[in-house]
Amino acid sequence: MAEQQIALITGASRGLGLALARVLARSGARVAMVARNAREIEAAAAALRAEGHDAIAVADDVGDPDAAWRIAGQVHALLGTPDLVVHNASALGPVPLVALADTTPATFAATFATNVFGPFALTRALLGSMVMRGRGTFVFISSDAAVEAYPTWGAYGASKAALDHLGRIWAAELEGTGVRVVEIDPGEMDTRMHADAVPDADTATLASPDAVARRIVHAMRLDAVPSGARVSAGRLADTVAAAHPEVA
Ligand SMILES: NC(=O)c1ccc[n+]([C@@H]2O[C@H](COP(=O)([O-])OP(=O)(O)OC[C@H]3O[C@@H](n4cnc5c(N)ncnc54)[C@H](OP(=O)(O)O)[C@@H]3O)[C@@H](O)[C@H]2O)c1
Repeated sequence: MAEQQIALITGASRGLGLALARVLARSGARVAMVARNAREIEAAAAALRAEGHDAIAVADDVGDPDAAWRIAGQVHALLGTPDLVVHNASALGPVPLVALADTTPATFAATFATNVFGPFALTRALLGSMVMRGRGTFVFISSDAAVEAYPTWGAYGASKAALDHLGRIWAAELEGTGVRVVEIDPGEMDTRMHADAVPDADTATLASPDAVARRIVHAMRLDAVPSGARVSAGRLADTVAAAHPEVA
C-alpha cells in the first residue's frame, strides 16, 4: 500500500493493533481504529490526532453480528474505501486457559464470534468497494496456535485455524480482482493478551509489538506477501527480500 492511504485496524487500543495504527499513521496513512472500550480507543486515536495524524476511533465489538455494517459505514463515511484492513482483534477464550473438556459451548462460540465470524462479516461488508476499485489488502492476524495443538488453547487455536482457512478461501475467491488476503502470525509479543494467557512468562523473551508492527507494515507497503500466503513475522524480512531484492 502506498503512503497517504486508508487503513482500518481492529483491536487498535493496545498491543499489536495500537502499534500498527501508530506505524501506519506516522507513515502517512489515515487510520480507523476499532475496539470495544470506547474511552480507550478514543484516547488512542486522540493521541495520534495530537501528533497531527488523521485517526478516527470506532467503538464496537467485532463479535457482534451487526458490527460489520456499522464499522464499514463509519469508515466509508469518515475516511473512504480502505486500502488496508487488519483483522487483529482477538479473544483468547476462557482465561485462565482451560482444557476443551472444561470449555463451555458458550465460551467456545464467543471465541469464534470474535476471531472468525467478525473478520468474515467485516471482510464481506468492506469487499464490494475494494473490488470495484480493484485494489486493497486484508491482513488476517493468525497465531502459531492455529497450527500447533497446544493443550488448553483449544477455543483460540481452533478459531485461528478457521480464520487461516477463511483467509485462504477469500484469497482464492478474490484472485484477479486486485484485492489480496494475507495471513500473518506475529509470534509471541509482550502484550496484555500474552500476559493473560501466560502470566508467568519471561517478558524479556517476547517481541515488542512495535517491532512486529514495523515489519508487517513494511511488507504490506511493498505487497511482498503473495495473496493467500501465511507468513510468520519472523520470516517477513526473508519474504520481503525474495519479493524485492532491491530493498533488502
Ligand atoms: N500477544 C501474542 O503473543 C500473540 C501471539 C500470537 C498471535 N497474537 C495475535 O495478535 C493479535 C493482537 O494480539 P495482542 O496480543 O496485541 O492483544 P491485546 O493486547 O489483548 O489487544 C487486543 C485488542 O483487541 C481489542 N478487542 C478484543 N476483543 C475485541 C472485540 N470483540 N471487538 C473489538 N475489539 C476487540 C482490544 O480492545 P477492547 O478489549 O477494548 O475491545 C484490544 O485493543 C491477536 O489477533 C492475537 O491473537 C498475539
